[in-house]
Amino acid sequence: MVKILYVCLGNICRSPMAEALMRDAVLAAGRDGQISIDSAATSSWEKGNPPHPGTRKIVASHNIEMTNMFSRQITTTDFIEFDLIFGMDQQNMNDLKAICPTEQTHKLRLFMDSVSEKQGMDVPDPWYTGDFALTYQLIFEGCQAQLNQLLQNKM
Ligand code: 4NP
Repeated sequence: MVKILYVCLGNICRSPMAEALMRDAVLAAGRDGQISIDSAATSSWEKGNPPHPGTRKIVASHNIEMTNMFSRQITTTDFIEFDLIFGMDQQNMNDLKAICPTEQTHKLRLFMDSVSEKQGMDVPDPWYTGDFALTYQLIFEGCQAQLNQLLQNKM
């Protein structure tokens, strides 16, 4: 079992979107017993809140489930529990690096680094941009690339 954790600032826009899309992609590939997915926030700001309405709307428009998801803040245990931890932007990566135990830092990845022509890119935060469609497109590409790499044992 490979355990993946997606992390953003609030855990109501980008990381729950990635969690839902990756879960859907893993199910479609028939690998739900082999890859588990969760998401978390670097902050406690949205603790207990469901995904943002804009995230829920665009995810639902693609017929993807988003039930029983609530924001939670990342914990020290998560760095040990999970095998791969994706930050959605450089600020998330800096925040993760600041709290990640030294022996677990090899698990940290910038989300868009999975897409060869988009390495180094941040996933724009629709909380600020209002553009949930662009964020959805980038997250879709990233999840597809991550699933392909996992299936080819390249991650
Ligand atoms: P996210 O977006 O990190 O993609 O979930 C945000 C959600 C909430 C806030 C900021 C960003 N906030 O300031 O509460």
